[in-house]
Amino acid sequence: MSKNSLSITDNRTGSTYEVPIEDDCIRAPDLRKIKINPEDFGMMSYDPAFVNTAACSSSITYIDGEKSILRYRGYPIEELAEKSTFLECAYLLIYGELPNQQQLEHWTSRIMRHTFIHENLVQIIESFRYDAHPMGILISSVAAMSTFHPEAREVGDPKIREKEIWRILGKLPTIAAFAYRVRIGRPHNYPDISRGYTGNMLYMMDYMNEHDYEVAPELSRALDVLFLLHADHEQNCSTATMRAVGSTRVDPYSAVAAASAALFGPLHGGANEAVLRMLTEIGSVSAIPAYVERVKKGEMRLMGFGHRVYTSYDPRASIIKKVAYDVFKVTGSNELIDIALELERIALQDDYFISHKLYPNVDFYSGIILQAMRFPTDMFPVLFAIPRAAGWLSQWLEMLDDPAQKIARPRQIYTGYDERPYVPIEQR
Ligand code: CMC
Repeated sequence: MSKNSLSITDNRTGSTYEVPIEDDCIRAPDLRKIKINPEDFGMMSYDPAFVNTAACSSSITYIDGEKSILRYRGYPIEELAEKSTFLECAYLLIYGELPNQQQLEHWTSRIMRHTFIHENLVQIIESFRYDAHPMGILISSVAAMSTFHPEAREVGDPKIREKEIWRILGKLPTIAAFAYRVRIGRPHNYPDISRGYTGNMLYMMDYMNEHDYEVAPELSRALDVLFLLHADHEQNCSTATMRAVGSTRVDPYSAVAAASAALFGPLHGGANEAVLRMLTEIGSVSAIPAYVERVKKGEMRLMGFGHRVYTSYDPRASIIKKVAYDVFKVTGSNELIDIALELERIALQDDYFISHKLYPNVDFYSGIILQAMRFPTDMFPVLFAIPRAAGWLSQWLEMLDDPAQKIARPRQIYTGYDERPYVPIEQR
């Protein structure tokens, strides 16, 4: 009997099965040979929320949640955050290797050129109500973009895929900035590609015809690091959505719109927004202990704490904490920041949070940084979606080229009625 296998004895029948082990996994379809009789469908595994199911193999992002390790294509996140940029990391995620100078210049110029959006898309963005959530505008605008570029449906063509990637990464900051300008009732600023990816985005959002307008380099670098840290995080909910929707061979705009919708939820990309709402609700440093007690009673969760994968510190959180202090030097502190830092201090000493392995995650600090930079709270998930698109698109490419992948289609355990006859309405 092979050592790289698992022997399973079915006590219902007394039969023993040998199932191969590869990469510390058994293949779920191998369980199907476990049957109580030949007509039996065979055994399945039950894993709501995929807590212990690998749905793909991937060479993009490596996470060891216990050791707080996060690497893109083998490069530690700490080193990338210190030495690289978001656009370089996006290249790394998409193509698998760091670019040389010429490749980086070409990549950057293609993406920056695609920051301009079609005027019809501007009209779509302007047609939303003044108080529309910018995530709703982003999701809708990206979905609408599939109608502007029908060739994007040719997902088997590598050249077309590449162009759609340039377009998506280029246009997302513009959609976000234009959505924001609609909100504040100000005219749009068309992209200024000389300012770089995040500098241009801050300019498009902020510029009001000031003489000698400059984006503070500390702020554009902080946003760039924030983008870099959020670029990919292996099989999280929105990436799994991107892969599942993309597995239907739909165009990448539709798949990115679906992934953005998944990211919008408060337990995922909406968490940084939820952190700010929570800090506002707490209201003062003196109110923190009472709030923490309510969390411990299970009345609510401490937003920005806990992670499905990281059972010790989120490595992105320690990098971002340093960025936060760089930003505060430019923007100054404020009461919400004081509440956040005190909340963190209290929670990290509390038995409940220690025993549940609940540490601040990336969203705890990103929320405070974005607030200090004066982004409106509902822009926060948008600022998560923009960089995560690089990860979604790299995972999408990997999925399309993986011969093991098919259309995503989970199984279920049916718990409903057995067959029953239709009852006419007057007899119900
Ligand atoms: N505050 C208080 N208690 C918590 C929290 C929290 N933030 N998170 C988990 N717990 C408790 C939970 O009540 C449960 O306790 P018990 O075992 O006593 O019933 C235990 O910890 C395990 O919780 P879980 O729901 O099984 O954990 P999960 O792995 O399914 O949830 C999570 C992960 C991130 C959804 C969750 O920690 C959470 O809701 N955090 C707040 C939202 C948040 O900050 N999300 C951002 C995640 S990082 C960005 C990203 O990657 O999307």
